[in-house]
Amino acid sequence: GGAMAALLCSMAACGADGGSTGASSGGTSGKELKLSINQTEQHPNYIALAHLADRMRERTDGRINIKVYPNAVLGAQTESMQSLEQGVIDLASLSAPQLVNLNTDFQVLDLPLVFDSVEHQMNCLNDPDLVGDLYMSLADSHNMVITGAYTQGARSVYNSKQPIVTPDDMKGLKIRVQETDTQVKMIEAMGATASPLSFGEVYGALQTGVIDGAENNQVSYITMKHYEVAKYYSYTNHLIGADLTIVNADVYNSWSDEDKEVWQEEFAASVDEFNELWDATVADAEEQTKAAGSQYNEVDADAFRAVLQPVTEAALTTETQKALYQAFRERAE
Ligand code: GCU
Repeated sequence: GGAMAALLCSMAACGADGGSTGASSGGTSGKELKLSINQTEQHPNYIALAHLADRMRERTDGRINIKVYPNAVLGAQTESMQSLEQGVIDLASLSAPQLVNLNTDFQVLDLPLVFDSVEHQMNCLNDPDLVGDLYMSLADSHNMVITGAYTQGARSVYNSKQPIVTPDDMKGLKIRVQETDTQVKMIEAMGATASPLSFGEVYGALQTGVIDGAENNQVSYITMKHYEVAKYYSYTNHLIGADLTIVNADVYNSWSDEDKEVWQEEFAASVDEFNELWDATVADAEEQTKAAGSQYNEVDADAFRAVLQPVTEAALTTETQKALYQAFRERAE
């Protein structure tokens, strides 16, 4: 629809081809670097990355020539993570819980009650003093360098059956979660049964009733059309998630120091662009899904906090996890 399409289109500089990933700038084009993302072209994450790719091409005279492939056409996140390690693709945007399967320290980025707001989260997750070591921790073991984070905003539960107000209302519901163990434990602690599925499988599973609901932000709720098959969106706000932009380490190490610096500068600019888009996109998603019949409701926040606190405590086991958590909490207001 109207407002969001117009906003997204103006921000994406929609051209005749409707996209912005063409190799438009001058200079010799370097080999095409493939970036995998599971979002549609309307999602701020895609838009910010596509513009980042354009600016990189311009600023490096085409030496760094990234093409962003949306809609998981290069694979769902779990497969993309493998392709990235093997160098079949060159970059990927992955949800933090995926990385937990490679190094459990990443868990701290994806737990309830870690970040108080998007501002707090962004203030932590793009600061090399706090996350520099973590972001380099997969370089030798898995051939990946994490270069920064965009927010997923607060994630909430939505389902096809009824409004959720207390954890009791979750009983008997089967809720899709991202494919990692802590996510399963979190949804179970919240009262429901968890079903790990890839993002692209959620719509069909909701439609056929294999699952009753999922948990995500309002933007994915609309871009993936989940609102069509799950009309009750309850603000559990159980965690603030992050998407990480990751580069294959061989590719990253092949860049000159100057080009690496350009990448870091432009990535920081892309975070600003993303943040400017995010709030408006969330508000617009709510407006449009409400118009289409979705019902939003507040929950008993204390009751959810009571079941979520133990999930976070139980998940912080290693010294690194505890130290990271501590460092993040010290940055809270
Ligand atoms: C959000 C997030 C994606 C993630 C998805 C999911 O949309 O931005 O990276 O894959 O949630 O729940 O799988």
